[in-house]
Amino acid sequence: MLTLSEPTLLHSQNLIDGQWRDAGLRARFAVTDPATAEAFANVADSDAGDASLAVDAAAAAFPAWSRRPARERAQLLKRWHALILAHEDDLARIISTEQGKPLKEARGEVQYGASYVEWFAEEATRICGDIVAEAVPGRKLLVLKEPVGVVAAITPWNFPLAMIARKIAPALAAGCTVVAKPAEDTPLTALALAGLAQQAGMPKGVVNIVTASREHTPGVVDAWLADSRVRKVTFTGSTPVGKHLARESAATLKKLSLELGGNAPFIVFDDADLDAAVDGLMASKFRNGGQTCVCPNRVYVHDTVHDAFVERLAQRVRALHVGPATEDAAQIGPMINARAVDKIARHVEDAVARGARVVTGGKRVRRADGPNYYAPTVLVDATPAMALSCEETFGPVAPIFRFRDEAEVIRDANDTPFGLAAYFYSSDVRRIWRVAQALETGMVGINEGAIAAEAAPFGGVKESGYGREGSRHGLDDYMHTKYLCQGQLG
Ligand code: SIN
Repeated sequence: MLTLSEPTLLHSQNLIDGQWRDAGLRARFAVTDPATAEAFANVADSDAGDASLAVDAAAAAFPAWSRRPARERAQLLKRWHALILAHEDDLARIISTEQGKPLKEARGEVQYGASYVEWFAEEATRICGDIVAEAVPGRKLLVLKEPVGVVAAITPWNFPLAMIARKIAPALAAGCTVVAKPAEDTPLTALALAGLAQQAGMPKGVVNIVTASREHTPGVVDAWLADSRVRKVTFTGSTPVGKHLARESAATLKKLSLELGGNAPFIVFDDADLDAAVDGLMASKFRNGGQTCVCPNRVYVHDTVHDAFVERLAQRVRALHVGPATEDAAQIGPMINARAVDKIARHVEDAVARGARVVTGGKRVRRADGPNYYAPTVLVDATPAMALSCEETFGPVAPIFRFRDEAEVIRDANDTPFGLAAYFYSSDVRRIWRVAQALETGMVGINEGAIAAEAAPFGGVKESGYGREGSRHGLDDYMHTKYLCQGQLG
């Protein structure tokens, strides 16, 4: 049961051209609480027609929005930011109810998402080009940054607020307009956020949200991919879907930002501060129940510190409280759905069948209130032959691999098509630089498990995608470069 102090934050229709509208076919789909696996709301189930209407609105709004002075766009973003923070508690309740993360983490997500809005409000006023030294007398060479146009944002369920905020905010700061489709598991947070953007005074058509069920999502997304008015697609989600978007957007050569799957290594060297490494692993592995693209999927621990590390880690993991967001003590909530729990169980069973040993956890948690819980787990004797070493588990499972030397662990860490994040703990400054440079990932946490921040460029290499979110690079991704050459000045 979702009770809010501001019930008007709950919307169930699409936001198109400043109007809340039913889907064209009046279809709806259910939104489920992962804690109970029961439906508690329903929202518009849109199709290609709704998707195109949203593009009509965004394309019509683009000329005026892109010409608006950057300071005015920034002021609107700042108002939006203030409203998000003013509704932190309600937004956190919506996030917890549709996504499952404990309330404390959901509040953290509201602040994290809001920080991107504030950052890009500030960056909007710092967009600048270049004046280049002329190569030929009598000519002036100027470089301008211009918004790319209509942006389609396709966002995941694991951070229902932060991911859409970190796509919409830079788009608007750059002068783009947006059509967005949140994940079918978590549409309510995106709709609430868009409602607050409207309340902040965002002109109609600048932010449009279209919701769709799993079944109808391809219709909406394919309509955007085929539409030449959509000039950029930004997506966070799986690598297979990212590849589909890259292929299908090639016909109209859209700009793309793809934040895709990861398989993050977390390396503990023999010279590491073990307590700090355990803290870092707890923060990065068990945040959001292990359902993050950047969470460690493979934990490599040096042979000489292996047993001490595992003992300290297991003690902390056993103490984690599993439960729904309605329990204040909850630290690990339900997984998003039954498919997710099945995948985690399959990975653990496969690992055990191939020789891994369960130190703690390793099973589903049977609770009267719902079926989607999995116990926080530590496994030892993990090997590259196990499914969890090459597929993202996306759950609260820390498999420990033993290693003996630096070259071997770097080779194993890089032995994956993915390259999103990596982490390592060491106190040797020479090793720190060597390893940081050798790891084939877009982001590296050095003696740090919590690496995401609005001021930092978030993104991967290899099959984890391209483009960056956050930081000034995150704004650049929504602009193109125009060169002006003015002659006859001599
Ligand atoms: C993700 O899981 O894709 C995002 C995680 C983050 O922003 O820290």
